[in-house]
Parts: sequence; C-alpha cells; structure tokens
Amino acid sequence: MSTDIKSAPIDTTSAAQLAQNGLRFDFVDDTDIEAFGYWFQAMNRGFLEPRASDESIDHRRRAFGSRRLTGVWDDAGADPKTPIATASSWIADLTLPGGRSVPSWAISTITVAPTHRRRGIARNLLESELRTAAALGVPVAILTASEATIYTRFGFAPAAMATNWKIDVQRAKWVGPTPDGRVHLVPAEAVRDEGGFEILERVRLATPGLIYFDGILWDRLFGIKGISDPDQLRVIRYDDAAGTAQGFAVYKVNEDEHAAAVDVRFFVAATDDAYAAMWRFFFEMDLVTSVTASLRPIDEPFQWQVSDARAVRKNHEGDHLWTRILDVKSALEARRYSAPGAFVLHVTDALGLSNGIYLLEISTAGIASVRSIEDPEPYDDNHSLALTISDLSAIYLGGVPVSMLVHAGRIRELSPGSALATDAAFRSEVTPWLSIWF
Ligand SMILES: CC(C)(COP(=O)(O)OP(=O)(O)OC[C@H]1O[C@@H](n2cnc3c(N)ncnc32)[C@H](O)[C@@H]1OP(=O)(O)O)[C@@H](O)C(=O)NCCC(=O)NCCS
Repeated sequence: MSTDIKSAPIDTTSAAQLAQNGLRFDFVDDTDIEAFGYWFQAMNRGFLEPRASDESIDHRRRAFGSRRLTGVWDDAGADPKTPIATASSWIADLTLPGGRSVPSWAISTITVAPTHRRRGIARNLLESELRTAAALGVPVAILTASEATIYTRFGFAPAAMATNWKIDVQRAKWVGPTPDGRVHLVPAEAVRDEGGFEILERVRLATPGLIYFDGILWDRLFGIKGISDPDQLRVIRYDDAAGTAQGFAVYKVNEDEHAAAVDVRFFVAATDDAYAAMWRFFFEMDLVTSVTASLRPIDEPFQWQVSDARAVRKNHEGDHLWTRILDVKSALEARRYSAPGAFVLHVTDALGLSNGIYLLEISTAGIASVRSIEDPEPYDDNHSLALTISDLSAIYLGGVPVSMLVHAGRIRELSPGSALATDAAFRSEVTPWLSIWF
C-alpha cells in the first residue's frame, strides 16, 4: 500500500466529467495561505458556518496540512478564487475486532455550494476519493455523515452507532462500584499535553470503530483559543490506586437561575474502575439536575449502575461511523473473528471496485484468509450469502447483525443457517464506537 497521498494524481475520470461542465477539479496548495483561506471559507460556508476569522486561518492551515485537499472551481463564476466544492482526505488507522487495525481512507469536508448543487459534483468528488484510495491500496474508506441519505449509493454503510444520553441525576442515584483510585479536577493542559493522549490510544486500540487522530482533532476536545472557547470546559482525570492515569473526561456546565446541567463532551476510560469513578463523579455533583453526553456507545454500563434505570434515557441513537470496503480480501483479512467457518460471499458493487465471489475461510484462532473464486459450485457445502458492498461494510465491524439485514431483505441467505453462522463469526466482543466527528 502506498501512503504518499499527496502525490497521488487528481482522478482523471472526475476531472474530465467536471471539465465537461466548465469546472476545474484541482488540489489546494496548503503551503499557500491565501489559497487555503479561500478553500477553508468555502468549506465553512458549505456547512452553514460563519466566516472564520482571518487570524485563525493559519492555525487551521497547519491543522489541515497532513490532508489531501481538493476543490472544484468555476473559473467563469463571479468569485473564481473561491472553490464551489471542497473535499479532504487522509489515512487513519481504524480499529477492528480482535484489537487489529486497518489503514482507512478518511473522507471529510465534502461540500458543494448551494449555487451548484445537484449537478453531480459531490458524486465526482466522492467517486474520485474512492478510486484514488483503491488505487493506493487502502482497503477501507470511512466518513461521518451530515445526513444519512447521501452515502449508501456510494457503497458506504453505518457500522458504528452513537447515542446521546440524558440523565436525570436527581433520580438516578449511583449504586455502582466505588473504586479505590481518585478523580482529580485538573487543568486541561495536564491531560492534553501530559498523558491523556496515551489513555486515548489504549482505548482506541481496544475499540472497533475508533480511529487514530491527533493535531486539531485532539486539541479541539479541550477547546482552542480563537476557534472555540477553552475557558468554558473543565477536565477530570482518574488515577488508579497505584497512581496511574486511566481515564479522563471533558465537560461543560450550563447554568440557569435554578439549576445547572452538565454536558459531558468527551469521556474515555481504559478500565472499568476509571469508568465507574468518573461517571459517579458526574452523577453525584451538587447543584446539578441533569447530565447529557453525546456521541456515546449504545451500550453504556452506567444504565446498570444507577438506582433508577428509567432516569437514564437515550435522546437519540443512530448512525455515526460509515465504512466502505474497497478491497474485500485485505479488509476481511485485517480483522479477527469470533468463530470459525467457511463462507462464500457474492458481493455486488455499483461502482465496480469490489464485485466478485469471495471465499472467506476463518480458522479456529479467528484468523481469516480470503480469495476470489470464479465458480461457487465446489463450495456448495459452505455458508453462502449474497450482499452489496454497502451491506458487507455495515457488518464489517461486528456491530450490525447479519441476520437483521437478512430480515430487512438486504442480505440474501443462499444456504440456510448462513446468517446465524456469519453473525457468530463477525460478532465483536466490544461494541463498535467512534468518539468524534471528522
Ligand atoms: C450534500 C452535498 C455535498 C451534495 O452535493 P451535490 O453536488 O448536490 O450532490 P450530487 O449532485 O453529486 O448528488 C449525488 C447523489 O446524491 C444525492 N444527494 C445529494 N445530496 C443529497 C442529500 N442531501 N440528501 C439525499 N440525497 C442527496 C443526489 O440526489 C444524487 O443521487 P443520484 O446520483 O443517485 O441520483 C451538498 O448538498 C452540500 O454541500 N450539503 C451541505 C454540506 C454537507 O452536508 N456535506 C456532506 C458532509 S458529510
């Protein structure tokens, strides 16, 4: 796999299609602050954000420096320096079941100006990203989506869900464990610059769906002066009885005349003790009536650690991390499986990147080998499914049951019992979760 993402050329298919409509598809030179500024402001406008301050542009340029930045320009338009469409991408390690990981093509900042919408510009951007990633040998693409209606047609599917919780802490008394370690209130720098990242890394490597991130994606968890307000955020850290930091959380207090509400912005715990101690801290804060936490896993143990489970509610649960397998063999061989078996997968891919019949053989150790086969007949005794690349991408992290997609009429079981057997193999011990937007 080549990782030199910036020197990979602009996709000629998309460039030619856009050129037919008088549009220019090109790179953004991130060493040119003026060109980056136009691109960044176009992206902000696309997401309905206000203009970024001129002072913040250089900081943002450095933060985007490791990405491949592209745009589409309408040179005949009234504002030819500002791109009418934006995209960016980079390679991020994505954790898979079994503590494994795979390089994934992270796609972000896809916008098209309202003046140019629904003419196939986003399609050209998306397809070019997928073709470029596939040509570089990156097995999987990932994104987080502003709307759930856009990306299935490109072969993506939600593979890790997220929940927003609202907890009535006046009703929900803590009845879970009281760990021996200590929760400390600390300055943000004590976690941001000294050891917090190491905790996050331990959690990332154990949790399918989490991706490696640093730079601005890490710094923004703690607020960034001039961009978001760090003074509104507070940070706790849990040190175990031996004094080792095992978790941290970032929160904000919203107060009105009568009550305070705590919003837990980010929470990671590398041990069950860190988890219990830090949630207990939030459940037992004086003056606070409610606690909210968004982008959390769908199966929080705290539901079982309170006196009144009905005081803990899910406000929202839905798609969060979308995956798109580009190379079936490399993607499926990268993860570990929970049960052995042999499976014939008839995969269809509307973009033509991964069509084929694949034999997936999983050993008793949970290690897979995958090969393409021309004729499935000699493998008739094996489990067999017909599915789109989007459905294979949905089940990839082990959080979406195959049998559910069979009942939904999306995956077709070609031999009886195949769905249950695939579920047993693909199931992940740890529920897939992604902790950030990107
Ligand atoms: C979403 C967005 C990028 C689409 O750009 P676009 O150039 O109008 O999209 P295209 O014309 O290339 O459409 C491609 C396909 O997606 C569909 N589509 C595009 N936007 C859609 C939306 N918001 N909801 C549902 N379908 C959508 C189109 O109907 C088209 O379908 P088809 O090719 O199967 O017929 C653009 O509307 C936008 O910038 N929105 C605001 C920012 C945003 O939400 N970006 C996505 C970040 S995850």
